[in-house]
Amino acid sequence: MCLMFTPARKPTKMASSLPPLALLSVLLVVFPFSAPSPARSGAVVPRLPGFRGPLPFRLETGYVEVDEVKETEFFYYFIESEGNPAEDPLLLWLTGGPRCSAFCGLVFEVGPLKFVSAKYNGSLPSLVYRPYSWTKVSNMIFLDSPVGSGFSFSRHVESYYDGGDISWSQYVYAFLIKWLVDHPKFLANPLYIAGDSYAGKIVPIVAQQVLNGIEAEKRPLLNLQGYVIGNPFTGEKIDLNARVPFAHGMGIISDDFFKLIQRSCAGQDYRSPIDSQCEMCFDTFDEILSEINRYNILEPKCALASPKPKTEGRRALKEYLHLLEPPPTPALNCRNYAHILAYYWANTDVVRKALHIKKGTVGEWKRCNYDLPYAMDIKSSIKHHLSVTSGGYRALVYSGDHDMLIPFVGTKQWTRSLNFSVIDNWRSWHVDGQVAGYATTYSNNLTFATVKGAGHTAAEYKNKECLAMIRRWLSHEPL
Ligand SMILES: *[C@@H]1O[C@H](CO)[C@@H](O)[C@H](O)[C@H]1NC(C)=O
Ligand SMILES: *[C@@H]1O[C@H](CO)[C@@H](O)[C@H](O)[C@H]1NC(C)=O
Ligand SMILES: *[C@@H]1O[C@H](CO)[C@@H](O)[C@H](O)[C@H]1NC(C)=O
Repeated sequence: MCLMFTPARKPTKMASSLPPLALLSVLLVVFPFSAPSPARSGAVVPRLPGFRGPLPFRLETGYVEVDEVKETEFFYYFIESEGNPAEDPLLLWLTGGPRCSAFCGLVFEVGPLKFVSAKYNGSLPSLVYRPYSWTKVSNMIFLDSPVGSGFSFSRHVESYYDGGDISWSQYVYAFLIKWLVDHPKFLANPLYIAGDSYAGKIVPIVAQQVLNGIEAEKRPLLNLQGYVIGNPFTGEKIDLNARVPFAHGMGIISDDFFKLIQRSCAGQDYRSPIDSQCEMCFDTFDEILSEINRYNILEPKCALASPKPKTEGRRALKEYLHLLEPPPTPALNCRNYAHILAYYWANTDVVRKALHIKKGTVGEWKRCNYDLPYAMDIKSSIKHHLSVTSGGYRALVYSGDHDMLIPFVGTKQWTRSLNFSVIDNWRSWHVDGQVAGYATTYSNNLTFATVKGAGHTAAEYKNKECLAMIRRWLSHEPL
């Protein structure tokens, strides 16, 4: 009942001009059956600690209960489009891991904030505005999911131990429905599901559930248009096997070693070889890879020097009530030094207050929470890709072409293996007159694009290019 579509009224607007009692009676008259509570799930965040002045965009944070029995609530950051919020698409962003916080997507990849790279000295890390944010062209929800990620929590401890592909995707769908019931003015905006890395496996599964709901005419009717995935995992062995031809093409392994692996491992899943010769090859292969940064083979591999950063006396200790085990600290000139800054920032009381984090729900905030079990209970999401794209929905699959975790070589191969006909064959796309990557467009509105020089989380490395890519794709232009 409470999921029923409510006509697009603006209860929050009325709230400002009417006293509470009058508002209540208006609501009872206008919404006799669904009784929505205005702004039930979220609250506006006008300022953030560490950011100078008011935020130059509209941020709302809040919770949506995705499982009423297990009392599981997903935390979200919602940022209204800095373009035209009434008409721009609505993008739901999921971060991979599984169990990395969506805040990583916001602050390291596609959102309008980033940390100032300065050595952590016990005072709050600073944030500044990131101009090349996807919120320039879309309304974005960054969702901490599954439970155990970021600030999402459950009041039943066993919920933390039964995460998996199936429950994660079902909860995301439940979230979307409830969030849109609560924000009916975004029901008509084109809806896209997006995410990268491991979330790339979940995105088409969620899209499939939305599609099923649309076909069953479930209310509210979601305006799904398609999905976007970056360096996505699918569950297919090609995702990881592709590291071998990638490493060979990039000059990381020799021709002879490449041939030896091909001979010894033909047809096998390289991550769980059945042949001992193949297994030996992989020990050597891993040793070779261990020398370089897999997230972007061109960047330095940052040794994780581990001593706990010095906190400055009592003041700092009092501020950081949530610290248990700070993560290892990389060198300041390493890209992932920002992970440390995020850790200190998110574990500070003033920050939690500003974000409206419920007290006593999450102890230590971690960028990624790998300690909890996770069931990969859907073997492959290829059938979801096939079904959703064949169902008339659009898809953008992009790949930072210097990622060795899930190399473009494999992603290119599985997109081609869907056997869609080629509409526009492998050609360059450009930003500022320079080649920004290469793209192939298939029938069923499937685009595969590389981002030249980018690593695993492409936008983190090629901000400007990735904004141009998403802007063009969302407006149905060729890349
Ligand atoms: C820490 O560094 C910031 C600049 O990054 C500076 O403004 C602040 O005063 C420093 N605090 C201490 C305690 O040294
Ligand atoms: C694509 O075509 C190949 C060769 O004809 C076939 O083996 C494969 O099953 C097809 N894939 C799909 C997804 O239809
Ligand atoms: C999507 O694909 C269909 C069939 O391939 C095509 O007719 C339609 O124009 C495409 N839509 C967009 C928005 O590109």
